[in-house]
Amino acid sequence: MENIEELKKELTGSIESASDLKSLEEVRVALLGKKGRITEMMKNLASLSPEEKKEMGRGLNILKSEAEAALESRKEKLAAAELNAKLEKEKVDVTLPVRPECQGRIHPVSKIYEEVVAIFGEMGFEVAEGPDIEDQFHNFNALNMPANHPARQMQDTFYIPNLESDNFDDSYVVRTHTSPVQIRTMENKRPPIRVVAPGRTYRSDYDATHTPMFHQIEGLVIDKTTTMAHLKGCLYDFVKAFFELDDIPVRYRPSYFPFTEPSAEMDIGCLKTKTELKIGAGTDWLEILGCGMVHPNVLRAGGIDPDEYQGFAFGLGLDRLAMLKYGIPDLRTFFESDVRWLKHYGFVPLDESSMTGGLSNNGGLAR
Ligand code: DAH
Repeated sequence: MENIEELKKELTGSIESASDLKSLEEVRVALLGKKGRITEMMKNLASLSPEEKKEMGRGLNILKSEAEAALESRKEKLAAAELNAKLEKEKVDVTLPVRPECQGRIHPVSKIYEEVVAIFGEMGFEVAEGPDIEDQFHNFNALNMPANHPARQMQDTFYIPNLESDNFDDSYVVRTHTSPVQIRTMENKRPPIRVVAPGRTYRSDYDATHTPMFHQIEGLVIDKTTTMAHLKGCLYDFVKAFFELDDIPVRYRPSYFPFTEPSAEMDIGCLKTKTELKIGAGTDWLEILGCGMVHPNVLRAGGIDPDEYQGFAFGLGLDRLAMLKYGIPDLRTFFESDVRWLKHYGFVPLDESSMTGGLSNNGGLAR
């Protein structure tokens, strides 16, 4: 049998001199593993006389727990040192400028989306969502456009067959506008309601100002005393904030949408010349959105009692807003995925839109 004191000195030395976790583990196995020295000595106890066994056994038990404690504390030290060395090596200087090879740009539509949501968010609107593939109930019927309603023909709809039904009325559509989100919101939320619903919309149309997929944002406000005056004030504040002008002439022209009564279109004052479009000045008018008071039939379809509640809605094209605000002449180029175009019209990723920090913050234009 080895002398326990000697052994203790020796093993303390080898634990302390282990310089990394791997060699420490080797030391542990050599001592306490299945064939380790302490393990072997414990096995050999059986061959000793009862007296010797008792004394040696006690000594070995103490040695074993001392060895375990020493291994544990060395392990903690080595692990901390290894972690520190790793952290030191992987240090990142977050104050360094963005790498020059960073080519990513925010698409103008994403930028407009952020700007519009920032403005309405500041006014207390929440963002609502709905599916791109809709049923005809939400896209048409519930919006006061029953089957064969002439207004359905105003929208060149893409239909998607419903494989479970031969009835055409059961076929799905890719939503032709964001207005179905009005219905989905009413189905899931009790008034007061104040939401905007930005998203993709689809129609079979293609020229310089139309693409089969485009973007709209819908607005819906419902409460007990909401009036057309609130609609006008809200949208006036919106266009001023959006075009970043202190004042801007606006007018409302009577119009027709099946889901609002009365309905209107909002125009903003501008100056059109052969080469330029200047917003906020001049004698010309530019239509920018459709709006109106929510039709009682629409409230009813959404499960809201029109004798108790009323509200307004509006809808506008985000791509058109981007074309106007950033002077982009052809809508089709938005979706051609041409990196040169994106470099010219896109925005630097870190330039966020907010009402306090600035919306478009022209310094952020990647030009
Ligand atoms: N959904 C209409 C369209 O796509 C736009 C619209 C007009 C939405 C008037 C509205 C509204 O909410 O009140 O042409």
